[in-house]
Amino acid sequence: IKVLSVASEAVPLVKTGGLADVAGALPAALAGEGVEVTTMLPGYPAVKATLAKGTRAVAKWDDLLGHPARLLAGKIDGNKLLVLDCPALFDRPGGPYQAPDGVDWPDNWHRFAAFALAAAEVAMGYAKGRRFDLVHAHDWQAAMVPAYMSYADPALALPSVLTIHNMAFQGWYPAQVFPQLGLPAGAFTVDGVESYGGVGFLKAGMQAASAITTVSPTYAAEIRSAEFGMGLEGLVQARGGDVSGILNGIDPAVWHPAHDAALATPYDAASLDRRTTNKRAVEAAFGLDEDDGPLFTVISRLTWQKGMDVLPAVLDHLVGNGGRLALLGSGDAAIEQSFLAAATRHSGRIGVRIGYDEALSHLLQGGADAILVPSRFEPCGLTQLYGLAYGCLPVVARTGGLADTVIDANPAALAAGVATGVQFDGISEHSLRAAIDRTLALYRQPDTWRRLQTNGMAADFSWAASARAYAALYRSLTGAKA
Ligand code: ADP
Ligand code: GLC
Repeated sequence: IKVLSVASEAVPLVKTGGLADVAGALPAALAGEGVEVTTMLPGYPAVKATLAKGTRAVAKWDDLLGHPARLLAGKIDGNKLLVLDCPALFDRPGGPYQAPDGVDWPDNWHRFAAFALAAAEVAMGYAKGRRFDLVHAHDWQAAMVPAYMSYADPALALPSVLTIHNMAFQGWYPAQVFPQLGLPAGAFTVDGVESYGGVGFLKAGMQAASAITTVSPTYAAEIRSAEFGMGLEGLVQARGGDVSGILNGIDPAVWHPAHDAALATPYDAASLDRRTTNKRAVEAAFGLDEDDGPLFTVISRLTWQKGMDVLPAVLDHLVGNGGRLALLGSGDAAIEQSFLAAATRHSGRIGVRIGYDEALSHLLQGGADAILVPSRFEPCGLTQLYGLAYGCLPVVARTGGLADTVIDANPAALAAGVATGVQFDGISEHSLRAAIDRTLALYRQPDTWRRLQTNGMAADFSWAASARAYAALYRSLTGAKA
């Protein structure tokens, strides 16, 4: 089966979050299942810069929603890549979605509509010599691909999978943008791209895609409710059996403590004592006191989704009870300020690095004792999976993929020897304090703690099972045989 995977970011080329990890890992994971994945990305400067010299244009548009564009073909790590080179829309400084000042580009609707339209045309055979059996679109930035296919020519439209990595980001725009999307007037209906009076990119994809997946079974169930469905729960319910949850995996080539160049010292489950060297490196990097007491980490977008508005309020408690914290993240300015203030209050006990640093995120997983993930909702979550793989105990809210991947150290699970972390219900100062207290108590029992670490490290979150599930879904939609 030949699949065109359409995403706005993919490791190692461009990453702002978990979507990039997933889009980057899928091709290799699926190769073993007889699925050949070609990834299509927007031509951001960083993406074009890594394309090898001599890259050929395999298709051209004189007028792609108002701009000339080309399709470049290349390879990265042996995986096939198609890049939409449209300088007017993508040749810009800053991030994939934001200007250097952190504000969203005002024409994101135009950028990702053009991207999706181009991908739809490529899927339907517009680029000579490239044929596909199925399109896999990720998140709102690619969600219009199935919609464009269905309005272009239903006879040529390929089967499609839309994966929702986060229901909170829907790509909703006022109705005024509709006439510029190149869609027939009849598309602006509740069965088409209209959503709450405007244009909803994610909604349009959910309507048009042959199947919808999200990144954990629990989140797939949660988005049927108003609390998690964010206004689209009715559509999730209407699509019924077409919606399923396939848990993300992690890429052991990138995330494995035994061969991770970003660590001060590699280690495995049999040499956990070597983590101390990494702990010293974390302390040095974050200006923390050297000590063997419990060191928490946070590696996160600093937003309400992640519960990061509540965490600062319990840091006095965390430090007062012997904990320390090394935090790496960026996001809402007010939240950044409260963490920085906590670091000033607790010099040597709390260290805060505002920013994005891939290598440092690896070192933290390899050196900290526990990773806090107090999300209000979490479609899958990857940092708790990296924590499990690195013996960095996940302390997580019981929601979405966090609920599916961490086994709480309650008395029964401890007795059965299967626990891998700490879970708590509901995000509040009270629940967070209690979770921190439980974690500190477990840390004071070295044998139990070690068992929790080795259980987590032995848990299998490789892509194999998820790749099998995606391949089975592709086969059922294309009619291909196993
Ligand atoms: P989300 O995609 O919602 O932000 P995930 O847990 O799925 O959450 O993925 C986040 C990814 O981004 C992980 O790979 C994590 O290590 C990484 N990450 C988040 N913040 C930072 C940061 N400040 N520096 C480096 N990596 C980060
Ligand atoms: C989104 C979600 C996160 C998930 C990631 C990759 O960013 O917020 O929970 O792990 O996508 O699927």
